[in-house]
This record gives sequence, C-alpha cells and structure tokens, in this order.
Amino acid sequence: MRPQEIIAKKRDGKTLSNADIGIFVEGVSTGEWADYQISALVMAMFINGLDQREQDELTRAMIYSGKVLDLSSVDRPVVDKHSTGGVGDKTSLIIAPAAAACGLAVPMISGRGLGHTGGTLDKLESIKGFDVGLSMARFTELLGTNGYAMAGQTGEIAPADKKLYALRDATATVPYIPLIVASIMSKKLAEDLDALVLDVKTGSGAFMQEYDDSVKLAEALVQTGKAFGVNTQAVVSDMSQPLGKFVGNALEVYECIKLLKGEGDDAMSATMDLSIELTARMLMLGGVADTMESAEAMVRDVIESGQALAKFRQNVEVQGGNAAVCDDPELLVDDALLRVPFSASAAGYVAAVNTFAVGRAICDIGGGRIKAEDGVDHAVGLECTVRIGDRVEKGDPLGIIYCRDRNQADSISENLQNAYKITEEIPDIPKLIRATV
Ligand code: URA
Repeated sequence: MRPQEIIAKKRDGKTLSNADIGIFVEGVSTGEWADYQISALVMAMFINGLDQREQDELTRAMIYSGKVLDLSSVDRPVVDKHSTGGVGDKTSLIIAPAAAACGLAVPMISGRGLGHTGGTLDKLESIKGFDVGLSMARFTELLGTNGYAMAGQTGEIAPADKKLYALRDATATVPYIPLIVASIMSKKLAEDLDALVLDVKTGSGAFMQEYDDSVKLAEALVQTGKAFGVNTQAVVSDMSQPLGKFVGNALEVYECIKLLKGEGDDAMSATMDLSIELTARMLMLGGVADTMESAEAMVRDVIESGQALAKFRQNVEVQGGNAAVCDDPELLVDDALLRVPFSASAAGYVAAVNTFAVGRAICDIGGGRIKAEDGVDHAVGLECTVRIGDRVEKGDPLGIIYCRDRNQADSISENLQNAYKITEEIPDIPKLIRATV
C-alpha cells in the first residue's frame, strides 16, 4: 500500500490495520516515507485518534523497528524506572544504585536534557571521564556483574521513535497520549524488562502540566506495559517546583552523592523521599519485597549502610569516571563559578513556582539545551533556597545562581524572580506523590 493511501484512511477517520501500521513504521525506519508523509499521517492520527488496538500495534511496530535487548543471561529481576522529565529531577542517580544494592538489575537507558528538562546522561557526564557510550554487549555484561549500567540510547533501540519524535516536536503533535505512550513504551519495552515503574510528573515544570492529563497518561502507560507482559506501575509526582535543592548537571550529582553519603539537608529531602518511593515500588514489582513497608526499609538500609554509595562508586569506576567525587562531592562544584543570589520582590509566602521558567533560565546560561545539537555547560545551575509554603521578607534570597559571569546572572535573575509567586495568603503545600496507578 502506498503512503498516500494509508494517510487518506486516517485523514478520513478510518482505523488502520496492523499491516498499515507496520508499513508506516517500516517506512519511517528505512527512510522510504518522506518527512512530509510521516508528518501528515501523524497529524491525521492526532486529529482523528487511534484506538487501543492501533496504539498497541504502533507500540509493537516501534519496539521491533530496532533491536530488543536479550537479558536472559542476567540472573536478577530486571526492573527499570522511567520519568517523564522535569526540573532538578535527579532520582535515577540514587534509584539505580539503591535498587542494584537490593538485588535488582537496572538497565538504565537514558536521554539527554532537552528544553527546560534535564537528562540523566548530561548529569553523569559532569563526572570527569564518565562514558555513557556503552556497547549493548558491555551494557549487558555490567548488568550481570554490577546490577546496573547507565547508557545512552543508541540508534539500535526503537530507531523509528527517534525520527517520529523529532517530527512530532516540529509539527506540534507531541501532546497526544497514544503517540506519547507508543514513544515512551517502545523504548522501555525494548529493554527486556520484568517490571517497570513510571514517574509521571505533573505541574508547572512537567510535560503534562494538568493533573488530570498526567493521571490519564499514567493510566495509559501502565495499561500498555501490562498488555506487553511487563508488570508496570506509575506514580504521579509533583513538578510544581524544582525537585530538591539543586538544578544543573554537576550540582544535581553533588546533591545525590551528598544524600548517598548521609550528608543531605532538608532542602534535599524531596529528592530522597521520591527516590525511596520509586525504588521501593521497583523492589515490590521485581518480587524482592512483599510490602511497601519492607521495601522502603530495604532501600533505607542500603542507603544508610553505604551499600548504595558503594554501588554508585563501582559504576562510576567501570564506566571510566573519576570516582574521587564519591569521597569528595565538592569536586563537582567548580570553584570558579560566581554565586549570585536573586531575591523576593515582596514579603509573603511562596505560593507557586513557574518551574518551566526556572528550567529555561538554566538553559539560557548554558546548563541545558534548546536544540538537540547544542552543547551543555555542566557546571552552572541553581540552588533553590525556598520552597512553596515558605515565608519570605522583601529582599530575602529565593535562590542562588551558579554562573560563569555577572552578565549571565543579570540575564536571568529577573526571570527567576518572576518565576516565584509571592502572596499574602498561606498557600496549600503540594504533596510530593499525587497519585499511584
Ligand atoms: N517523551 C518521549 O520519549 N516521547 C514522547 O512522546 C513524549 C515524552
């Protein structure tokens, strides 16, 4: 069947057969379909919808557009965590070693930051020498020996998604749940998982900002995971303010190592709480714990005893990074950076944070990328001094910009100041875990 016939079917509101979907995804992967034909069909899908069968078939075709890992040689339950992305969202750096220390194998195939959200690969690369470019053979070997490995998505995993996501991004067709589900789950289901925990963010820094949409996305992701035989759960977690204390690649690694060393402070507690919650759910789904209470106790124990930090160190060593940061996380904080506070313009309570604007401000000083091909300054970032509900007086610091020069600070401090809404009324404090699915 020619591309235009398949496009016409969906344009006219008909359902696509499995064969149509297979032809489309193959055309995307091989380059036989032109970008304008792919975009036209995706727009028709966006407008006229995909039913459950079409969505599942699209997911399946996208999974098999590339290689599917074979982790049958790994002698532990294989469980991953995926987050839909946010600002200061650094939990993978704690979850992977903690889950591995509790007996799971965690195949963390991660992405780079794009737009206002950060990416685990950029965070890891702020550790000097850390190599995320593992071959699939080495990745599988490390899973067996260390219990976890951190790698970037190569062109081998779900290649159709890479092309489709770029075209969706350019044609305003990202925010449609069946397309999001096929995109996320094709990458995760190619990892040969026994179980998967999804962290679907909600709020001003999330890709799904409205709570009801986030819950719908979480439900659709879980349903698809289960349909493909993977025990899947989702947590809808708060992204109405940056997670934890720091935003910015090296600073986020610093925060995680401090927490793994037992040297965290109150401002970092949300990072720890969410990491424990998600890791505990992974242990339950992987069959390593029977109840959430016992799972949480296991996670706390491997963190407090230093076993999770030892796993983290082992991973940094085998992936070529400078493991001295595990003893001295201050090595991650560049001494040459200026630390410039930005302050409250009025007295009152911090009522809301435009977290998207915070993420974009960090991009503006080089800490994130606007386009996929942009470089990143791993060192720069932000220390979040206040959280929603805190009382501030006029002139009190809301946060500290870690930047290269005064011009950078001047260029973003007004945007950051405006990102924090101060009111006279005491606001509701958002719960960290908004729902579980
Ligand atoms: N993240 C993805 O990987 N795909 C989407 O479609 C949206 C978010």
